[in-house]
Amino acid sequence: MPSLRVACLPVLLIAGAVFYQSLLGPLLSLGGAFRAVEPFKNDACTKVEGAEACEKLVLHSPSGLVYMACSTLESRMNWHPYHMALNASGRSTTDHVAIYDPTSEKIIRTLLEGFADARGINVHGMDVVPSEFDKNELFVYLVNHRPPVEEAKAHIYGADSVIEIFKTKVGSDVLTHVKTVEDPLIDTPNDVVGSSDGKSFYFTNDHSTKVGLMRIVNAYLSRPVTSVVYCDVDAGCKIAADDLAGCNGIARGKDGKIFVVLSTTSVSEIRVFEEQDDNSLVQTDAIPADRHMDNIVVDEDDVAYIASIPKTLHFFLVHQKKLFNSITIEQKYKLEKIFEDDGSQVSAITSAVMDKKRSVLYIHGVSAPWLSICKV
Ligand SMILES: *[C@@H]1O[C@H](CO)[C@@H](O)[C@H](O)[C@H]1NC(C)=O
Repeated sequence: MPSLRVACLPVLLIAGAVFYQSLLGPLLSLGGAFRAVEPFKNDACTKVEGAEACEKLVLHSPSGLVYMACSTLESRMNWHPYHMALNASGRSTTDHVAIYDPTSEKIIRTLLEGFADARGINVHGMDVVPSEFDKNELFVYLVNHRPPVEEAKAHIYGADSVIEIFKTKVGSDVLTHVKTVEDPLIDTPNDVVGSSDGKSFYFTNDHSTKVGLMRIVNAYLSRPVTSVVYCDVDAGCKIAADDLAGCNGIARGKDGKIFVVLSTTSVSEIRVFEEQDDNSLVQTDAIPADRHMDNIVVDEDDVAYIASIPKTLHFFLVHQKKLFNSITIEQKYKLEKIFEDDGSQVSAITSAVMDKKRSVLYIHGVSAPWLSICKV
């Protein structure tokens, strides 16, 4: 019936245009379909084996130690609730915090003390914060994606996620458990920023539900269904900012600033918030980016380092961006590329930190096989 086909054509064209405008275009553009990877400062990288699949890195600047939340590549294939990998029996029992020591150039694997949960530690986001009481003491905040008690039903219930607080001494290989924080608002935690008294934190929920098709639909449509939550170990948790699409990495800047990375199919932005007296967050800035981003860390000069991917569509290609404060009001924040690699040196990154004293960039990722250390 050629006449019907002809009649349908404009409808299809319009539907196609709407689909392209709203979904496919942003995906191809943020995903870097037509972007050329331009390697930048990637010619002086070394690979350090001994810690794999480390989703988040945090630098302890005074000592140069780099804390890393690590697993195994095989475990991440089976157990990574963010990607709906929910095969609890296939997960590693060896998830741990590792420390890279730039003096010995060795990786130290930490042990947990006083931690009794039989479901173990299942790492994702992390923060490491010097104590306000003793500068040699650190609080370590970890997202722990425990499987549900009935592990075999993990694919139905999703993870029973909590935030764990540990304390340690700078350079020690022992993390002593302080508290497990459980709360209905700790739903799909991704990354966390902790306080210096070991008693409160902000974290991002990266989806609106633990399982189900709506996770995918909401991510594709960039629906503002994710949130930043504030928890106090005594007072409990409350929403600090919501109506956000695709919350991912979170970091604390100077003067009560909290940075949150939003990354969905068609949105890629850094939002800047100001912490209020009641611990809610009020947005002050939104900085759009041209590619998908993951974790963010902010150094003592308020420079943020963000792991991003130039071609999400061709995963395993790598890129970082730097964000810094400039002085004019019109252009308060500026994004700058400080490193880019085509996957030959550095692979599948989700976190990067810069040690300015040593002029090195540490790079790792949730599906990266090694730590990369690049002179920049
Ligand atoms: C889950 O992991 C176990 C252990 O590695 C493996 O034997 C099993 O095939 C996996 N199941 C699925 C559905 O992938």
